[in-house]
Amino acid sequence: MTEKTHHRLRLGVNVDHVATVRQARGGDNPDPVRAAILAAEAGADGITAHLREDRRHISDDDIARLSKALKIPLNLEMAATDEMAAIALKHLPHAACIVPEKREERTTEGGIDAAGQHNRLTSIVAALGAARIRVSMFIEPDKRQLDASKLLGAPVVELHTGAYANASPAERENLLAKIREAAAYGESIGLEIHAGHGLTYDNVKAIAAIPQIRELNIGHFLMGEAMFVGLESSIRTMRQLMDEARA
Ligand code: PXP
Repeated sequence: MTEKTHHRLRLGVNVDHVATVRQARGGDNPDPVRAAILAAEAGADGITAHLREDRRHISDDDIARLSKALKIPLNLEMAATDEMAAIALKHLPHAACIVPEKREERTTEGGIDAAGQHNRLTSIVAALGAARIRVSMFIEPDKRQLDASKLLGAPVVELHTGAYANASPAERENLLAKIREAAAYGESIGLEIHAGHGLTYDNVKAIAAIPQIRELNIGHFLMGEAMFVGLESSIRTMRQLMDEARA
């Protein structure tokens, strides 16, 4: 593969925060499954949902309904626990992204320590892989974590773009360089490269331009923007920015 090869860049739309708004009142509205179907119509290549251990947004029933309703791939974000592995094995999503979870955090604040938790992760990655679920490790853009993910047998990594997204203008270029290096190194050792967290209209293009990246997972910004312009419009604009960056 030459340096110039540009893979098509897929957009995975994370619907967690439709469920966050629902949970603010309880009840059934708004429904993340309806958002997922609309997202697919607007050009999403996949749907991502994070079933958190505390069920603060997406519920078990949402995962069951998404699994049934979707005609595009479902990517289940999950902590590396036996409970979540059993749920994944029951619903058999296309993909599972292993994320760290701390109950008190507001969102997934850092990548998983694939290197430090090798023993605990090995059996879960193997069980999901044996069920033909495509496993990705949500990691910091760091060579050690890429090597550890490869060693675990995960075919995919998702590079955490949160630090880049939240960086001051002075820090941003350095953090972007780290993501670029990680994407190139990861692909060179045979990993499929995804990225996500904190991406917006303003910061997506530099990430979308990295040729090794195959998929971006984006949620919070798209759902917030959808309040003003509608979900279809927010997704189409994001898709357009991604395509422009890739052209
Ligand atoms: N990727 C992973 C692994 C995540 O945990 C999240 C947040 O749930 C995202 C992508 C999407 O991040 P955001 O909601 O900030 O776009």
